[in-house]
Amino acid sequence: MYTVALVAQKGGTGKTTLAVSLAVAAGQVGLTSIIVDLDPQATACNWKDRRKGDGPVVIDAQPARLAAALVKAAENGVDFAVIDTPARNEQSALAAAKVADLVLIPCRPQAYDLETIPNTKEILALAGNTPALAILNAVPAIGDRHEQARALLNRLQVPVCPYMLGNRAVFGDAGAVGQAAQEYDPRGKGAAEILQVYKYILSTLVQLSKDKTKQEHHEHQSQSDRAAG
Ligand SMILES: Nc1ncnc2c1ncn2[C@@H]1O[C@H](COP(=O)(O)OP(=O)(O)OP(=O)(O)O)[C@@H](O)[C@H]1O
Ligand SMILES: [Mg+2]
Repeated sequence: MYTVALVAQKGGTGKTTLAVSLAVAAGQVGLTSIIVDLDPQATACNWKDRRKGDGPVVIDAQPARLAAALVKAAENGVDFAVIDTPARNEQSALAAAKVADLVLIPCRPQAYDLETIPNTKEILALAGNTPALAILNAVPAIGDRHEQARALLNRLQVPVCPYMLGNRAVFGDAGAVGQAAQEYDPRGKGAAEILQVYKYILSTLVQLSKDKTKQEHHEHQSQSDRAAG
């Protein structure tokens, strides 16, 4: 099971929008996905209440119960778990970053969002340097703010997803009826953007998992060599 966590200390950056979009995207390619909602505002749970049809399952959990919830999800055959976290809550962000394979940091290309990135980085460090990926969200159609944001994130040494989401009404409209943008308007630009971002995240997760296996193999080999003298 792959686990991603949406973390950003600033409110309204698009954590829940991305959480539901990615969980739906995984479902659309045949994976079993789940959303674990750590936000006391329960935005993802409320989205699910408005949703017609099956999947993804959305469960509300507390940080202290997160690890257990994920063990259960894996036992039940979940392939892709998405943790949505509240803004301005270091305890939840830390708990999510500790259990995630990859932390996703949605970020609007504006100073208010960007200035909270160092704080998010501190949380990642506390969690044991969980790999992270910033995703530029609600990028205006005009201007080069996204390029400035990308340059700043590079300086802060935060990897940035090469694909970004535009500022599009479809994300809010879809959420209002318990859908993701790619369901509300499958041929729209928002749908295409989500698909690109989802694919990039999946390929990053696959690569991280390969790296981890290699590292574990290497450590095992070193241990055996030491034991053999
Ligand atoms: N790409 C986008 N284009 C336009 N509107 C967007 C986009 N992404 C998110 N929004 C809108 O911005 C608002 C905040 O998004 P969302 O709830 O996903 O953020 P959040 O980070 O989960 O917020 P919170 O910190 O309160 O949990 C919502 O009204 C949502 O519809
Ligand atoms: Mg939210």
